[in-house]
Amino acid sequence: MSLLFDPGSRQAAAPLYEALEEFKEARIVPFDVPGHKRGRGNPELTAFLGQKCMDVDVNSMKCLDNLCHPVSVIKEAEELAAEAFGAAHAYFMVGGTTSSVQAMVLTACKPGDEIILPRNVHRSVLNAVMLCGAVPVYVNPETDKDLGICLGMCREAVAAAIQAHPAAVAVLVNNPTYYGICSDLRSIVQLAHQKGMLVLADEAHGTHFYFDKNLPLSAMAAGADMAAVSMHKSGGSLTQSSLLLSGPGVSEGYVRQIINLTQTTSGSYLLMSSLDLSRRNLALHGDEIFEKVRNLAQYGRDEINNIGGYYAYGRELRNGDSVYDFDETKLLVNTLPVGLAGIEVYDLLRDEYDIQTEFGDLGNILAYISVGDRVRDVERLVGALAEIRRRFGRPGANLMKSEYIEPIVVCGPQKAFYGAKVSLPLKEALGKVCTEYVMCYPPGIPILAPGELVTQEIIDYILYAKAKGCSMTGPEDLDIERLNVLKE
Ligand SMILES: Cc1ncc(COP(=O)(O)O)c(C=O)c1O
Repeated sequence: MSLLFDPGSRQAAAPLYEALEEFKEARIVPFDVPGHKRGRGNPELTAFLGQKCMDVDVNSMKCLDNLCHPVSVIKEAEELAAEAFGAAHAYFMVGGTTSSVQAMVLTACKPGDEIILPRNVHRSVLNAVMLCGAVPVYVNPETDKDLGICLGMCREAVAAAIQAHPAAVAVLVNNPTYYGICSDLRSIVQLAHQKGMLVLADEAHGTHFYFDKNLPLSAMAAGADMAAVSMHKSGGSLTQSSLLLSGPGVSEGYVRQIINLTQTTSGSYLLMSSLDLSRRNLALHGDEIFEKVRNLAQYGRDEINNIGGYYAYGRELRNGDSVYDFDETKLLVNTLPVGLAGIEVYDLLRDEYDIQTEFGDLGNILAYISVGDRVRDVERLVGALAEIRRRFGRPGANLMKSEYIEPIVVCGPQKAFYGAKVSLPLKEALGKVCTEYVMCYPPGIPILAPGELVTQEIIDYILYAKAKGCSMTGPEDLDIERLNVLKE
C-alpha cells in the first residue's frame, strides 16, 4: 500500500510552516529565548545561516504551539503526517531517529520485560533496551556468506523465539536493514499479535516505503504497532528531525508521556517545519520522487555491474523469507571480487575522487541515492569505481568478510553496563564479559554489546577492522586499545 494524495486534498496544507510564515509577518518584539533575538545578537552566525533561518529559530509560544503538549498547529501538522503515513498517530521528533527508537522501546517495555529482536540492530535500539532495563531475546539473522552481510529474520526463527519466550512484550524488526533487506513483516506481525506482543519497526531507512507501491511494504501497512521513521534520510527533512508513528492499539497519551521523559522542552522550529514541509512534499509528489530514485539506482547498478568485478546487488537476492523483499533505492556494491575491502573503496572514493558514500564496511559500500542526485553524479561514481578497480584492484587478495558473529550473551546489557568493571588491553579481554559497545560507525551495528562474551573471533575482527581503517566507536577508550569488562 502506498499513500498518495491529490493536490486538492488537505495534505496540501502545512500548518506549522504556515503559522511560522504568519508569525514572521507579525513582527513580534522578542523578550523570550533564544537570546540571539532573530539573529541580531549573533551577526556572524546570521551571516552563515541566513536571516531566514534565524527568523524562525524561535521558542514555543501561543501561536506556534508546544512540542511537549501539542494542541494547535503542531497537533494539526502531526495529524496530517499520521494520515500521510497511514498511522493512527504521528509524533514530530527532534532528537533524530534515535529518539523515535527510544520512545518506541520505552513505550513497549518496562524493566525486566523481554523484547525479541534481531542482533543486527542499530545501537539506538540496544541503548533503549539498556536504558529501560529490558531483557533482549536475540533472533540471529541469516547471513549471506558471499556478500558478508546480515539478512532479515526468518519467520521460523521468530516463531521459535515467540514460543520460547511467551511473556515477551514486543518484537522489533528492521524494515529494512541498512543494506535494504526486509523480513516478512506482515507474517511477523501476525505471529506476534497472536500472542499479544507489540511489533515495533525501525524504519530509519524506510521512509520512502510509504509513498511508492513498487517498494517493500511499510510497517504501518503491515499492521505494526509503532515505527521510527527517519524523515531526514530519504524523506528530505533536516538532519535530526524524525517521525514516530503508532497504530490504533497504542495509547497516544502514554506515548507522549514516554517521549517527554527524554525530549527537549525547546523543540527546534527549523526541524519541525522541515518535517511539515517534507510530509507535504512526499504526500503530494512521493510517487514521482521515488520512481526517479529507483530508476537512478537501477541505472547505477547496471553500469557498475558492467565494469566487472564489483557486484551491485538488487532484488535478485529475494528468497521468500530472510530476504523477503529488497529496497531497490539502495545502491549497494560488493567490492571483494576486486580485491578491496568496502572501507578501502570508501576511502579511495573520498580521498582520490572527492566522492562521499554513505558507508564502507569490510566487503561493501553503500551509495545513498536520493531525489537530489543527478545522472551525471551517478556517472561520476561509476567512472571512479572503474578507475579504482584498474589502479588499485588486487584480485585474489585474502580479505575478511564482515560476517555476522553470533553473540554469546552472558547477562543483560543494563546489568553489564552498570556492573563493577575493569579496563583491560583488548587481547587480555578474551573470555571476559564486555560492559560496553564496540562498533564500526556507520553502520552502527555493534560487534560487541554490554553483557556479551569477548571471543577470539571478535578480537580478530576488531583488529582487522581497525587495520583496514574502519571508523570504530563505543568503548570508553577512544583508541579501542582497551576494553571495559566485568570484574570477576
Ligand atoms: C537502522 C537505524 N536505526 C536508527 C538510527 C538512528 O537514527 P539517527 O541518526 O537519526 O538518530 C540509524 C542511524 O543511522 C539507523 O541506521
